[in-house]
Amino acid sequence: MPNPFKIKVVKNEKEFCDRQDEQQKLISYINNKTNAVLYAPRRFGKTSLVKRVHNKLSKEDIILIYVDFFGITSHEDIAKRTAKSIYSAIHQTESIFQKAINIFRSFRPVVRPSESGISISVEQTIPNISGIDLLSKTMEDLGKFIERSPEIVNVVFDEFQEITRLKNTQTEGILRSHIQEHDCSYFFLGSRRSILLQMFNDQKRPFYQSAFMYELKALPAEELAQFIQKQFSRSNKLCSIKLAHQIADMSHQHPYYSQKLAYCVYESSGKTITENDLKNGLSELIASETVLFEILLQGLAPQQIALLKAIATQPSSSVLSSDYMKQHNLKSIGGIQGAIKKLSDLDLIEKRNNAWTVVDPILEAWL
Ligand SMILES: Nc1ncnc2c1ncn2[C@@H]1O[C@H](COP(=O)(O)OP(=O)(O)OP(=O)(O)O)[C@@H](O)[C@H]1O
Ligand SMILES: [Mg+2]
Repeated sequence: MPNPFKIKVVKNEKEFCDRQDEQQKLISYINNKTNAVLYAPRRFGKTSLVKRVHNKLSKEDIILIYVDFFGITSHEDIAKRTAKSIYSAIHQTESIFQKAINIFRSFRPVVRPSESGISISVEQTIPNISGIDLLSKTMEDLGKFIERSPEIVNVVFDEFQEITRLKNTQTEGILRSHIQEHDCSYFFLGSRRSILLQMFNDQKRPFYQSAFMYELKALPAEELAQFIQKQFSRSNKLCSIKLAHQIADMSHQHPYYSQKLAYCVYESSGKTITENDLKNGLSELIASETVLFEILLQGLAPQQIALLKAIATQPSSSVLSSDYMKQHNLKSIGGIQGAIKKLSDLDLIEKRNNAWTVVDPILEAWL
């Protein structure tokens, strides 16, 4: 039997745990043409949730566009990804596809057969245009397309905070000026919470208060335990509800870690799950994350690592106090302030109940 726990984006009902209220909420935003920022720490299931919602609505008369901003390199790149996502979302309906081709003058679709049916890419048709102008034109055309579509439209911009990496002060303003005119809903997702939230909560920024802020929490304990038990039994293994609860607890109900821990337990167990399988599963999970954690630390300065370790051992509201600094061998106040900023921007630490805490529970344990 294949392992029933998935450690990739999950969007099908069978492999997706709970989030009923969240799905309803997002569907109501789509129907009401309301913009929302969906934020949560890394691997909390933001992408999975919107993909699940899109999957659920795929048979309805709704146009669902998903654009991933991860690793964008330029304004041309955003424009191109957006155009490609639009064509991909609608290619199955000939009349809508034709309408888009007539409206989107800056990119034409290139459709090729592929293993999974067809693949869509786009070719830029306007030469000698600046990246900013190309992006503006694409957004303007998207506005026209929405205007001429009787269907409700939802656009997802995943990893939206990546636009700040372009270091161009115009980007946010241009996107905002178009988006505010579009009669549809936009979902902005991102895992660098502090950067994303600043974009929407800073009075001086174009996106200030332009969307509902929607925080995605960890999975609820009861639903997660039941889900874990059901997945085991789907693949003919027996996991008591008590042990399923333990898996949920050990992973802090974290969507990714609970799946991965259950995955490891599944691999190393017999027909009936035992406490020992849980221990082995946890060791395997930590071993598999270790490489990633080591790479992560390699990208940090010594002062940042020192502060991260200090916070992992002792979450605190007074990391700048002389006692705390002495105890954890932290050098200077300026250094700590810089490290707090950097670690927050990377979403490695957050203020929880007023104390600085490591966001990722497995990283915290490992440190
Ligand atoms: N509702 C869910 N049910 C079951 N598993 C889930 C669910 N949501 C997330 N997961 C698990 O968590 C993993 C991470 O999910 P996903 O990639 O959607 O998170 P994300 O918040 O978009 O992450 P990132 O910050 O890296 O973009 C998935 O691969 C899956 O294993
Ligand atoms: Mg994601």
